[in-house]
Amino acid sequence: MSETATITVGGKTVELPVITGTENEKAIDIAKLRALTGCITFDDGYGNTGSCLSNITFIDGETGILRYRGIDIAEVAEKSDFIETAMLVINGKFPTSAERRAFSSLIVENELLHENMRVQFQGFPPTAHPMAVLTAMINAMSCFHPHLMEIHDDAQFHEAAAKLLSKVRTIAAFSYKHSIGEPLIYPTASRGYTENFLHMMFKAPNNDYVPDPDVVRALDLLFILHADHEQNCSTSTVRMVGSSQANLFTSVSAGVSALWGKLHGGANQAVLEMLEGIHKRGDSIESVIAKCKDKNSDFRLMGFGHRVYKNFDPRAKIIKAACDKVLSKLGKEDPLLDIAKQLEAAALNDSYFVDRKLYPNVDFYSGIIMRAIGIPTNMFTVLFAIGRMPGWIANWKETRDNANARIYRPRQIYMGAAKRSYEEAKREVIQ
Ligand code: SDX
Repeated sequence: MSETATITVGGKTVELPVITGTENEKAIDIAKLRALTGCITFDDGYGNTGSCLSNITFIDGETGILRYRGIDIAEVAEKSDFIETAMLVINGKFPTSAERRAFSSLIVENELLHENMRVQFQGFPPTAHPMAVLTAMINAMSCFHPHLMEIHDDAQFHEAAAKLLSKVRTIAAFSYKHSIGEPLIYPTASRGYTENFLHMMFKAPNNDYVPDPDVVRALDLLFILHADHEQNCSTSTVRMVGSSQANLFTSVSAGVSALWGKLHGGANQAVLEMLEGIHKRGDSIESVIAKCKDKNSDFRLMGFGHRVYKNFDPRAKIIKAACDKVLSKLGKEDPLLDIAKQLEAAALNDSYFVDRKLYPNVDFYSGIIMRAIGIPTNMFTVLFAIGRMPGWIANWKETRDNANARIYRPRQIYMGAAKRSYEEAKREVIQ
């Protein structure tokens, strides 16, 4: 006998089915709640609401578990690379050697932008935030690839997915070069995914830049760690837009917009700016922690806290360890890393953070590595988007492939003015 939940409301008692997930997570299926009781549920910020059944990523926030297609993030981070991880996240299985070769060729075939797209960068002011450019240029892909709009065509999906994964690097690097007034550096077929991105970012006609293999590995690791994270704000946005049967490019462009917010992917830039401010002003750790707890201050410890993780974010632990390794490999020291570590230690021993189960999240240390590599702070969230691309693509596809696919259309509880006439409303306006 399958489990049910009993709800009594408005004098009615109804039994609703309970769904049990792979890891024994429980959800009350409220699909029939309104029909049976006339009631809907209310869940501000969706903290308690499951929007879908998904096979892609599992997170256990209480114990700090993250798995891509059942594989623990620490194993994927240690043993895989970003393209293999992307194929696992999107296809649900690791590629054969032949599939890997074919996909890598597809990535190379799609790494250039249409020259009419390239010239569009000239239209943006050099001061434009690269996330604004990224959103616009990814959406512009719908203009340049009109043959990839049929969302139910698998061949079109795979070509569009390869274009997004490949071109997101080129768009990112071109936006950076445009912002510093340097000539654009094109991708080259001979370089791997992440090496190609670094080459486009830092090669210039007057230098012999060759990416350090340790730097390539560190950035590839960051991309792996950002590849998917179940129903976060930006991924839910991609699903929302995709549920209307909008094409993959425009759905992902909406996800990029959602990621930009500093409560989400924009936090990695906000963390670095926070650490730089603390360092520049010479703020004491105690004063910073005190500011977090001051309800009259809107200051938050950026990179701390998480809607799901009420334990360590496993990605933060991996990135923190990688920080030390990358900095020592590059022979660099960064006072901001010391400040970050002191803030973490102080917060983890402070009841305000302990009681609220606030731990470092993926954004707390990632900027330290990107800064060590030479990535400018305002590009940090763009790199988050490069890493998250496989997750957005996989979730869009899962929404498309859902046999019960319906457009996402939440309800609401109306709290506005009661029925009134035009004249009554006009009378309220002081003439
Ligand atoms: C990402 O969802 C995902 O999976 C996202 C992500 C992914 O991979 O896609 O993991 C990536 O977005 C990570 C989060 C990056 N954002 C930040 O680091 C910004 C700082 N963090 C917070 O703003 C906050 O923790 C959120 C936005 C991450 C989560 O917000 P919630 O779940 O809505 O929590 P809340 O705002 O209700 O906070 C609960 C309490 C409040 O205090 P009280 O009202 O109970 O007194 O905790 C406090 C908050 O004031 N709090 C913080 C805090 N985060 C929460 N206080 C100080 N500093 C913080 N960072």
